[in-house]
Amino acid sequence: MPRLVQVTHGLWRRAARAARLVAYDAFFGKRTGRVGLAAGISYDPRMSLSLGAGAQLGRNGTFQGEGRVQIGARTYLGGFFSIHCVRAVTIGDDCLVGNFVSIVDNDHGTDASAPIAAQPLAAKPVRIGNGCWLGEKATVLAGVAIGDGAVVGAGAVVTRDVPAGAIVAGVPARVLRLRALGAGSLGLDGVGDERGARIDAERREDHFDVIAHREDAAAERLRDLAGRGAG
Ligand SMILES: CC(C)(COP(=O)(O)OP(=O)(O)OC[C@H]1O[C@@H](n2cnc3c(N)ncnc32)[C@H](O)[C@@H]1OP(=O)(O)O)[C@@H](O)C(=O)NCCC(=O)NCCS
Repeated sequence: MPRLVQVTHGLWRRAARAARLVAYDAFFGKRTGRVGLAAGISYDPRMSLSLGAGAQLGRNGTFQGEGRVQIGARTYLGGFFSIHCVRAVTIGDDCLVGNFVSIVDNDHGTDASAPIAAQPLAAKPVRIGNGCWLGEKATVLAGVAIGDGAVVGAGAVVTRDVPAGAIVAGVPARVLRLRALGAGSLGLDGVGDERGARIDAERREDHFDVIAHREDAAAERLRDLAGRGAG
């Protein structure tokens, strides 16, 4: 890559990151470190949300409810995630959460004598440990605890606790097998070698930069159109 293009690219990346931090301060009012926020995230202002340093939230995610959500350091939530939390949802550090994943900590009553919407919500905290991987379209239901280093297959509906290091899949999710976890490890063994993890992190940074770039371009187009309209 020519030197000038490299420098411009570097400056652009820094500007895009700064813009994301401004958005984070404005929308969430709390900050525990540098985080990545994509476009279109909706957030219930009654919710208490804390994000660990380096956490990244994909586009069009939804935070719904008045509960307490904690997302650990370097954890990545894919696009269109849905966290419906009226009590507590905790996701540990270094988790990878695919697109369209739902996490919900509450159920309506199902008594036949009253409409479902009229029945009180029963909430039970959800806890997802460190170093977990949730495949695309997985759903985690109220009261579930997922142990460190566990893997949840795409499309699974997790209704019961998942042991640390287990790979579960299906509806309802069942254990397929256990990953081999090294003694004293965080549960991250086998997730990928160092080089793989670095490439993954770089791809994510690029993903967020691309989104920020598209937003800037869209805003510019709008300003342009508005300017032309006024003229
Ligand atoms: C669960 C997963 C990690 C594979 O785990 P694995 O231990 O290597 O499992 P295998 O591929 O050996 O499959 C074992 C069995 O589980 C079944 N299985 C695998 N994934 C499944 C899933 N998501 N749902 C239901 N069954 C599944 C296989 O069909 C196989 O069944 P069989 O023994 O009857 O043939 C993988 O299938 C998966 O779901 N990955 C998520 C992909 C994703 O969402 N990527 C986005 C990136 S964030």
